[in-house]
Amino acid sequence: MTIPAIAPLAPTADAIAQATQALARGQLLGLPTETVYGLAANAENPQAVRQIYDRKGRPAGHPLIVHIASAGQVAHFCPAVPAYAQTLMDAFWPGPLTLILPRRAGVADAVAGGQPTIGLRCPSHPVAQQVLQACLALPAPIHGLAAPSANRFGKVSPTRAEHVRTEFGDDLLILDGGACDVGIESTIVDCTREAPVVLRPGHIGASAMEDAINAPVIDPFAGHGDDSALQGPRPAAPGTLAAHYAPNAKVRLMDAKSIQAGLDILGPQARNMAVYARARLHSPSPHLILRTMPAQAAQAAHELFDVLRQLDGLGVKLIWVESPPADDAAWSGVRDRLQRAAASV
Ligand code: TXA
Ligand code: MG
Repeated sequence: MTIPAIAPLAPTADAIAQATQALARGQLLGLPTETVYGLAANAENPQAVRQIYDRKGRPAGHPLIVHIASAGQVAHFCPAVPAYAQTLMDAFWPGPLTLILPRRAGVADAVAGGQPTIGLRCPSHPVAQQVLQACLALPAPIHGLAAPSANRFGKVSPTRAEHVRTEFGDDLLILDGGACDVGIESTIVDCTREAPVVLRPGHIGASAMEDAINAPVIDPFAGHGDDSALQGPRPAAPGTLAAHYAPNAKVRLMDAKSIQAGLDILGPQARNMAVYARARLHSPSPHLILRTMPAQAAQAAHELFDVLRQLDGLGVKLIWVESPPADDAAWSGVRDRLQRAAASV
């Protein structure tokens, strides 16, 4: 039996088995997770991992996140885990949280981009969970799946199976798990220091993590916590670039007043452009595409990448986006992705 390039929503046991066999043969798989779709391969098969870099056009120094079925797989990749990281796993896994941990020497070198560490995440999406469990049950178990977001380098992450197809074409096997709930990539936390440091903001915020570990979490994106006490160089996520997550259209972040002023000046001439704003704005131009951004951060995150892709599909050249509310930590994931989209040239 062959399975279509996109297996049906809620994949059957057969589809899961075939996807798992493909991974065991060293092939790639479009995998739904609760954040975004991943381009998955056996993390311990260097040739398979090489294909991820090739197909994405991703630079070699950018490490990949490894997805595991449960916290039980951590010891395979990491010799030791700080107590606070264990507490974060207990509190937030399975879920949209990636922990950077010390890596066992010689294990999964191909995903590490030269780092002595590894990023581990246990996704909650039922399809991802089924695939990971089936991988572990293989005669030669696969302990983890390397899976960056399934988009070409620098582009918007995919939140639907069709997006992955658009990025990589018909020959990639893709499991369709529906639209991703969270919609932006996982929160990444560096757990190699005395205190956890947020490297990429996401759905799980610093205060929720502080409540779990009962100790400070440093989050430079929300101006949260004092990072001056940290020993050593300021942590950075290799491969997180200022310009990233960009649609083809140019993105400009502006406050609602400036957008309205711009629309007033353009008047009926506004065309080939879109506005994506929480505020109710108006334009006399019949050609302007006006989309309302949800007032809730989680809802805005859920649809953000899909909206950017839809606007690209409509051929707009310019998108004016209302800046997310300043000083509101709930918006830091969306703010970060929009700032990076707007930084692209
Ligand atoms: O939600 C997600 O995390 C999605 C889904 C598919 O799980 N994956 C994802 O992967 O966003 P990717 O490759 O697009 O982003 C991975 C980022 C890298 O750019 C890097 O910043 C960071 O994770 N990263 C991975 N391993 C790391 C390490 N050992 N040290 C520091 N940063 C690391
Ligand atoms: Mg990515």
